[in-house]
Amino acid sequence: MALTISYRRTDFAALNSPLLVLALPAEGQLPPAVMALDAALGGAIERTLDRRDFRGARDETLHLSGAARGVERVLLIGLGKGTERPAAIRRAAAIAARRAVSLGSGHVDFYAGAVTDEEAEAAAVGLIAGAWEYKELKTAPPEEERRRPLTSGAVLADDEVAAARGVAAGVAIGEGHSLARRLAMMPGNLCTPDYLAETAQDIASRHKLRVTVLGRGEMERESMGSFLCVAQGTPEDPKLIALEYRRGPANAAPVVLVGKGLCFDTGGISIKPAQSMELMKFDMCGAAGVLGAVEAIARLDLPVNVVGLIGATTNMPSGTAIKPGDVVRASNGKYIEIINTDAEGRLVLADVLGYARRFNPAAVIDAATLTGACVIALGHTATGVMGSDEELIQEVLAAGRRAGEPGWQLPLWDDYRELIKSDVADVKNSGGRPAGTITAALFLKEFADGYPWVHLDIAGTAYSESDLVTIPRGPTGVPTGTFVEFVRGRAR
Ligand code: BES
Ligand code: MN
Ligand code: ZN
Repeated sequence: MALTISYRRTDFAALNSPLLVLALPAEGQLPPAVMALDAALGGAIERTLDRRDFRGARDETLHLSGAARGVERVLLIGLGKGTERPAAIRRAAAIAARRAVSLGSGHVDFYAGAVTDEEAEAAAVGLIAGAWEYKELKTAPPEEERRRPLTSGAVLADDEVAAARGVAAGVAIGEGHSLARRLAMMPGNLCTPDYLAETAQDIASRHKLRVTVLGRGEMERESMGSFLCVAQGTPEDPKLIALEYRRGPANAAPVVLVGKGLCFDTGGISIKPAQSMELMKFDMCGAAGVLGAVEAIARLDLPVNVVGLIGATTNMPSGTAIKPGDVVRASNGKYIEIINTDAEGRLVLADVLGYARRFNPAAVIDAATLTGACVIALGHTATGVMGSDEELIQEVLAAGRRAGEPGWQLPLWDDYRELIKSDVADVKNSGGRPAGTITAALFLKEFADGYPWVHLDIAGTAYSESDLVTIPRGPTGVPTGTFVEFVRGRAR
């Protein structure tokens, strides 16, 4: 069930709440509004601070039970020392909603002082992120064991105009994130290329967008030998999905967002080890981010032109699968020697990046869970960022910072190109282990021709194998926020 987020004017004297969350900075004074509330609570908050039981450190929480009046529970959450208020508030709000879910409070009121519209937006994004759960495939427990679901949250604010604007934007972005996370979490037998296409069609019909879906036959007619060689091992129909959002000037070149949509990646004939292979259902997180971002951009009604492109298929070993040593021809005419069938994402993206050219893009940004090497280089903290246009790279990095999805640039120097030279073809699909993230991006660059282009390697950031405090193990929503912030930046 979706979480409904609203805002309320801060008025602690009149507040009735099953759970009031107070997000407080480190070593700060209690805001006067809270002091009045605290008086009504018999000074419990002040005593807690005096005793230094709660210091306002980042992620610190303290639950005051037996609160007074209409406020049933008070939870203090630290904002930390940082200067970045929106980011700290987003984080605290996510922790607040997660706690509200586990307490079964049904509703949460979130207070972080006087909030600007940007901060109210961050609070809404955080509340939605923290409340997100994937329960579709779990049988509901018996009535008496069920905790109350979290159905609503409110952002407390002094400035109602700012709060209204911020919460509305935050809900749009939060819903985009939730869609991306849901698609990512769905297992490969349910989230198929067909399902991604249906989801795109659903987004298109709700927001009146144009959608085009190419199947195997259409891709054959487009001579997409690179994409199709990955799909030749699976009976599922591969899909190239184009979702066109046009609310900008009719003649304005669009931003094209591209997502890798491998609904499952076994590695193919170069098969992966069994250990943790189930995580390769997340190999469509780029595609999920594109769909989530288009959903959010449409809800925000941004005056821009955006095209979302998804290359969706499944990488399987089979009698018809592509073999190492085979050579295929991409739609731009380049010959590719397949060294490793597990380097399939770049093969799919090669033809999708070629397809992007027909939209005469102002910029193309692709996101892909492309290389294990990126996880080794940057861990789960930063997305790998590479591209052909330095200014665009900086613009994407800034968007990622605003969204709380930091990226880090890696170099695409010509010297690395040596690693993907082939003896028989124009290029080979694997450069081996050294600089694996860079050689993958250099391979893409061969096909990202004729427009400014940035590539995001989200292999380490799109999902997490451990609990991240604000969100549980599983999909993070990356790169949805980066895409949305980038497009928003262009809309300003
Ligand atoms: N989807 C994987 C990359 C990946 C690995 C994502 C781990 C998330 C976590 C990709 O298709 C892949 O298998 N890449 C290979 C490339 C290699 C064969 C050149 C890799 O990283 O090992
Ligand atoms: Mn692979
Ligand atoms: Zn893959």
